[in-house]
Amino acid sequence: MINKEPIRPLSIDGTGHYLPQLEVGNDEFRQLVDTSDEWIRTRTGIRSRHLAEGEAVWYMGAQAARAALADACCTAEEIDVILVTTVTPDYVTPSVSCVIQAELGARRAFCLDLNVACSGFVYALDLASRYLQDPAISTVLIVAAELLSSITDFTDRSTCVLFGDGAAAVLVRRGDGTSGIHAVELGAEGEKGEVLTASIERPTSPFAAADRGRFPLRFSAARPTLQMAGREVFRFAVTVLADSVQAVLAKSGAGMEDLDYVIPHQANDRILEAAAKRLGISSDRVYAGLDTIGNTSSVSIPLALDRCRRSGRVRRGDTIAICGFGGGLTYGAALFTL
Ligand code: UT7
Repeated sequence: MINKEPIRPLSIDGTGHYLPQLEVGNDEFRQLVDTSDEWIRTRTGIRSRHLAEGEAVWYMGAQAARAALADACCTAEEIDVILVTTVTPDYVTPSVSCVIQAELGARRAFCLDLNVACSGFVYALDLASRYLQDPAISTVLIVAAELLSSITDFTDRSTCVLFGDGAAAVLVRRGDGTSGIHAVELGAEGEKGEVLTASIERPTSPFAAADRGRFPLRFSAARPTLQMAGREVFRFAVTVLADSVQAVLAKSGAGMEDLDYVIPHQANDRILEAAAKRLGISSDRVYAGLDTIGNTSSVSIPLALDRCRRSGRVRRGDTIAICGFGGGLTYGAALFTL
């Protein structure tokens, strides 16, 4: 039986998302690489994805944030904290969260960006729930925004068909204690970092040693575009998705029967099926919405949450597990009552 009282109360009062208008079908990739709609659909579940035609990360994030604020009947002035998750910030500085703060006019908010790749939203929700334990903080805006097309190698068939762009936002308040976090499980396996990399290109300092051998690069194969050992990430994903959900259930004294719905990171339908099987949960209790979105990294969980709230798939009082995995490698799960 689940412990009734959440350990960290919070209330998800608003959600929203933004997807670029341009929707690119699988067949369009045949002009770029040697692939087929059949391969992409059967290996991943993806039929199409939304790709930016010039939208910046901050722009997509601000659009999603406005939708979440409207949903929560919240003004920008009420926001105490803005957390942004992204692996594709527009600038090294200022952070995306600061740009969104200015765009929304959220003058009172302090701002920080998190880079936890596809696990980002789970980490951000955990951080939000911790900030909300401070009596001075009552409203946190979480924005996930990713422009993955800016780090995609469109000549590499093994990665370019997988990713999509977009943003999603969640407005969180402290709430009345009936809803909130029951348990969180976060982790990283940095020694596996080389299976999913993208480097940052910078000018070389005139003081840098000419002999690079003195300071060998940790990930020598990394390029400014995403490089991925798909099978290794696949294996990692199935294991950590199932194990981290089991861990949050165990921590909160809950069983599978207490769980109304699981919203995992959306990377591949086959990962979702394999994780559901490992968990022993029927696939109709696991969200799968990859077909017209693709893999949007940290956006995928809050985007799914927004869709599920708006369609009535999840309701107030439901107990939900979210779980993510991705670059780092990182993983995380959270069990909460909506
Ligand atoms: O968000 C977190 C990060 N990402 C992920 O979670 C992704 C995890 N991994 C995956 O989803 C899967 O591993 C992929 C979808 C990336 C790949 O599927 P797979 O079943 O593991 O395929 P594979 O990499 O083992 O490749 C099988 C074959 C290869 O050809 P050969 O060597 O057997 O002749 C690939 O070259 O499929 C080929 N292939 C393609 N063929 C047509 C790879 N990409 C494509 C493509 N179209 N787009």
